[in-house]
Amino acid sequence: MCGIIGLVSQDNFSSNEVINMLKRLEYRGYDSFGIVTNSGLFEKEVGEVKPVVENKCTQAVAHTRWATTGGVTKENAHPHSDCSGNIFLVHNGILENYLDFKKRLVGHKFVSETDTEVVAHYFEEKTKTKSVKESVLDFMNEAEGTFAIVLMIRGDKNLYAFKRGSPLSLGLLEGGNVLASDIYAFSDRTDKTIFFNEDEFAIVNESGYEFYRLDNGILNPVSKAITKVKWSGTEEKKNFDHYMIKEIYEEPEVAGRLVNSLQTEQMPELEKLKQMISSAKRTVFVASGTSYHAALLGVYFLNKAGIEAHAIIASEFRNFYLVDDKTLIIAVTQSGETMDVIEALHGMKSKGARIASLVNVPYSTIQRMSNVSINIEAGQEICVAATKSFVNQVIALTYLASLFGYEKDFSKIPEDIRNVLSEEEKIKRIAKSIAKSGDIYIIGRGYLYPVAREIALKIKEISYIHAEGMMGGELKHGTLALIEKGTPVIALIDNKPEIISNVMEVKARGGRIIAITNRDDDRFGEAIRISARNKLPFSIEAAVAGQLLAYHIAKEKGLPIDRPRNLAKCVSVK
Ligand code: AGP
Repeated sequence: MCGIIGLVSQDNFSSNEVINMLKRLEYRGYDSFGIVTNSGLFEKEVGEVKPVVENKCTQAVAHTRWATTGGVTKENAHPHSDCSGNIFLVHNGILENYLDFKKRLVGHKFVSETDTEVVAHYFEEKTKTKSVKESVLDFMNEAEGTFAIVLMIRGDKNLYAFKRGSPLSLGLLEGGNVLASDIYAFSDRTDKTIFFNEDEFAIVNESGYEFYRLDNGILNPVSKAITKVKWSGTEEKKNFDHYMIKEIYEEPEVAGRLVNSLQTEQMPELEKLKQMISSAKRTVFVASGTSYHAALLGVYFLNKAGIEAHAIIASEFRNFYLVDDKTLIIAVTQSGETMDVIEALHGMKSKGARIASLVNVPYSTIQRMSNVSINIEAGQEICVAATKSFVNQVIALTYLASLFGYEKDFSKIPEDIRNVLSEEEKIKRIAKSIAKSGDIYIIGRGYLYPVAREIALKIKEISYIHAEGMMGGELKHGTLALIEKGTPVIALIDNKPEIISNVMEVKARGGRIIAITNRDDDRFGEAIRISARNKLPFSIEAAVAGQLLAYHIAKEKGLPIDRPRNLAKCVSVK
């Protein structure tokens, strides 16, 4: 995934200004970082981004890493450089044919295991006989895989940036320019942005920029529009212990904000989406992780409203769905940058399908790829585990179903969420009691099945406990064999009698039931009470209870809740 920065300015700036920008990209990866400036600073470290030696400079490139090719070591951290120490580059993406490149770079000394270092040596070799622009052209013609690269050469006033697959944008500053993986990095410094499209290359210096696009093996000049972005910068943690709990407590507010915006300024876009759904033969959601679980709820509610809808996991989309020009694809994504989703959309566009999206991060790649896009208005989400974005995805999807006749009342959702939040102390006690478990099962039926899966994902990613969310009816087809005395089973119990049977099956085998329910029934034993009577608020309340439970399990275990091991907020690799 990784976050990259390239800053060039007329006036001197401090190395730590770049580090501050890099910090804002850390949600893209946080296992190691590095910076190089044109006045001699070259520092790399394993761990989270932190201040470096103060160094005044006019050019710098920096990188925060989520390891792909090569382990988490100082040597593998970026920037990477060539043998001469004159060429430096930072890279986000995966160069698939780097070993072919490496074989040809005879005599070069490599100090890391990365694909990126090979690119630095490639440019060292190429620029012996060609201009940088010609070298970039060769690279773009030969490279396989994904890349957003910023290249800095000692003694050269330009930075060189080129991309395929991975995101890249240029922020226009007073007396300078900044290249970054996304606008978060510089949204406090400028609102003027140029987004790179696929296969574009830019030469950027302190006073200007030139853009080129690769067409039929040639780099042609291209004029680019400047987008004025409205974006409020990064959020503070305030008095909360973690971003996750802060973001959970924001849910009533962001839910209300979304409903309001769907009923007012987003109404025209929503109407367009309604038309697209009406004229399509079928609607297919494509999403990953939490967003996929929200999409499953969207399928449930649209089907109830008589609309044929399906949800497919993005990374397997092409293997499990046949798409034609009568299919409407709706991408559901918090970041708008998930590579699996982008890849699926590219494939579908070429088959004539129309593309819509539900996105949280404005101006993201997926939003820009879509014919119609609804913003879920959850605000910036920093914790790797998605919470408030899930709630708002579910609301937006149900609102869509309401345009076809499903559930109409969205006014009480903030209040419903507050009701669950008031149960936090009880949830915390339950969390403590199951924090040492090796396995936790979560069961639900119908619209509560996606919620069961979402709760399991939350528990897995932040508390590192194996958790399985499943359809209550499937338990007896195999998984019941794993239930022993005391095995925790979280049951999402509404008024369906079948889920009670599943609960009884677990209890009969000694399993420990923890009910999330709106029913008063002492057969369940421990229960987290929720107030909702209808499906939409029930699904949201149950999900929020699960988020709190996962949070407190992880807190009890003393884990790094906002930045779980091995993960990143934005998954921009395949
Ligand atoms: C959620 O808690 C996860 N971190 C992850 O599953 C996430 O939902 C998934 O990577 C999809 O991301 P997106 O919504 O930004 O596309």
